[in-house]
Amino acid sequence: MTDFRIGELRVDGADTEARNHSSEEENEDWIKPLIHQSQGAKEFAYCPYSKFRVGAALLAHDGTVFTGCNVENASYNLGLCAERTAIAKAVSGGYRSFKAIAIASDLEDQFVSPCGGCRQFMREFGDHWSVYLSKPDGSYKEMTIEDLLPVSFGPEDLKKKRLTIEFIS
Ligand code: THU
Repeated sequence: MTDFRIGELRVDGADTEARNHSSEEENEDWIKPLIHQSQGAKEFAYCPYSKFRVGAALLAHDGTVFTGCNVENASYNLGLCAERTAIAKAVSGGYRSFKAIAIASDLEDQFVSPCGGCRQFMREFGDHWSVYLSKPDGSYKEMTIEDLLPVSFGPEDLKKKRLTIEFIS
């Protein structure tokens, strides 16, 4: 059985910072394995309420992969999405620079689409990285965070010039 422990997975050939390939030259052999890992993560989904399994595999710039699944709760609104689980695992392991995330579900005829909250959560770490929306047969559609969340609000906006307001406490 494949071991999905934190920070121990890798995708060979995905280490672009070290290899410095241009996008045309880049070897994309890691995409299918990343999707496969998101499908593996889906097997661990805890979704007794929706029965809608989701898995995610998040690829950091050094080739490390963090997986995640949805984790629901009897207090429904506390449920976590797969993408956010993977991102929280990565960030709490010291990673903030990501190359791609693959998402898997059991939808047969549709590429699974990340929810609005997850789009914003992913966007926190840049809007030029890739999201692979997949189907159970392994086929996929590549989009960027910017495609999924255009005209977004991000951490840079908090640093921009603002009116000075006096706060009354
Ligand atoms: N879900 C995700 O994990 N990711 C998404 O982007 C869409 C929705 C989960 C949340 C919930 O556990 C189940 O799918 C049904 O909404």
